[in-house]
Amino acid sequence: MASKVLLTGGAGYIGSHTALEFLLAGYEVVVVDDLSNSSEKAIERVEKLADKSVRFERLNVCDGEAMRKLLTEVGAVDAIVHFAGFKAVGESVQKPVEYYRNNLDSALVVCEAAKEFNIPKIVFSSSATVYGLAERVPLVETSPTGGCTNPYGWTKYMIEQILRDFAKATPSLSVTLLRYFNPIGAHPSGEIGEDPLGIPNNLAPFVCQVAVGRRPKLNVFGNDYPTPDGTGVRDYIHVVDLAKGHVAACDHAKPGVKVYNLGTGRGYSVLELVETFKRVNNVDVPYEIVDRRPGDVAICFADATLAREELGWTAQYGLDEMCRDAYNWQKKNPNGYRD
Ligand code: WQD
Repeated sequence: MASKVLLTGGAGYIGSHTALEFLLAGYEVVVVDDLSNSSEKAIERVEKLADKSVRFERLNVCDGEAMRKLLTEVGAVDAIVHFAGFKAVGESVQKPVEYYRNNLDSALVVCEAAKEFNIPKIVFSSSATVYGLAERVPLVETSPTGGCTNPYGWTKYMIEQILRDFAKATPSLSVTLLRYFNPIGAHPSGEIGEDPLGIPNNLAPFVCQVAVGRRPKLNVFGNDYPTPDGTGVRDYIHVVDLAKGHVAACDHAKPGVKVYNLGTGRGYSVLELVETFKRVNNVDVPYEIVDRRPGDVAICFADATLAREELGWTAQYGLDEMCRDAYNWQKKNPNGYRD
């Protein structure tokens, strides 16, 4: 009997790539998603890529009754991978109450469901943003957390705490907190990828939209940081590597709480990414240096040793492949899933 995993927010960018990797690893996959920031087309494409079906249910994870009904229908689930949540940093500053309500409520419903249906594993989509304005890099899992610079980051920090307390009260439960660095790129097929609504907040999707002519130029937020070329340095990780990290986390899960950085351990600047993107795709990306974006840190990258040692997981793709695959998806889907 194959293990069965429930992905909340599994139609989203990281969720859909993770659904595919679980299918390829032999799991049965159930996806719940309210499609507020995703498309059911992503699920259809995942099924085609894996040549396997996904049990998809459109619902809001904050709706405990709907979750209960679904879990009663699908039967025993070995793990919940919790992606569902609002995730736009800037928007969270404008709408903090909506972010706390949505992200915390959905996490609490996941805990209640795990308790009621005896689901032994929870894997949580956390973020390097919980490290706040980190003083020291590379970041290790024992680096101080808190001091988040926005409500979105605080929701991730608070959900980590909720899950720790829930695990303390539930000795048989396994909780794995996966702290993502900067996921970019797309499945090499170009069939699934990042499809942000409106103006992209993040660098890679914005670069892709400039490269395909949807936007005239990239604004580079500051070149006066204490970095080699003055622009911000981040730990970009291929979304397929990130997805595989979830399968590894699930496969290795044991009772108790474990925290892992999912990064490459290498930082690249904005201009390094832009120049790599131009080189590997033989495309122009016009840009202009503008003022810093409030809340940005100069440098953020992971120490990814623990995931390698304990999960046997290491990122395999480099920046060239991330840029190649991001552009391939965008070229094949200039308007994302809305084509
Ligand atoms: C990367 C670099 C910008 C856009 C955020 C969230 C984090 C996680 C990943 C969810 C920075 C520069 C960006 C642009 C630019 N999301 N930039 N022009 O801010 O590191 O992390 O996304 O978990 O929680 O905080 O990612 O892609 O927005 O920025 O110059 O149009 O690119 O200044 O140096 P960030 P990003």
